[in-house]
Amino acid sequence: MTNRTQWNLEQVTQIIASLKDTPGAMLPILHGIQDTQGYVPPDAVPMIAEALNQTRAEVHGVISFYHLFRTTPPGKHVVQICRAEACQARGARALEAHVKAKLHIDYNNTTLDQEFTLEPIYCLGNCACGPSIRVDDDIVGRVTTDKFDLIVDELTTVALDLAPLNPVRQEKKA
Ligand code: FES
Repeated sequence: MTNRTQWNLEQVTQIIASLKDTPGAMLPILHGIQDTQGYVPPDAVPMIAEALNQTRAEVHGVISFYHLFRTTPPGKHVVQICRAEACQARGARALEAHVKAKLHIDYNNTTLDQEFTLEPIYCLGNCACGPSIRVDDDIVGRVTTDKFDLIVDELTTVALDLAPLNPVRQEKKA
């Protein structure tokens, strides 16, 4: 993924050009842009509209209908909490309250230091091991409040390169 605060015009242009003639091109284009840029930049909307011969309002309509599309750059790490039934039955509600308090943000927001974006998701395919969350590309099951705190500590200390002193990282290697 590119720098999350800047989007790559050339890459977005290429994605639109390569998909615009496929049937139902709007969603694949939006997914392609978000997967590579981290979000759908507002300036990409007129480009998509022109390529698909649709209005900007129509493109905006699709983006806002599917809540999974972001219109602002995400933080360095994206945390998604499963809000579907099986995870709710296993304590996801208490976990999400803890996560919001820990990060000081609500869903679809990013921490002030740009470290974490918090999003809801509805089933990660890990139902038997709920409550489940996804942190960037990793799905984590049986997440307790303590386990979540360890994950956050791990992610916020890695940049300091303290691996030999970090018990969580050592535990993972064992
Ligand atoms: S219900 Fe949470 S992973 Fe399926």
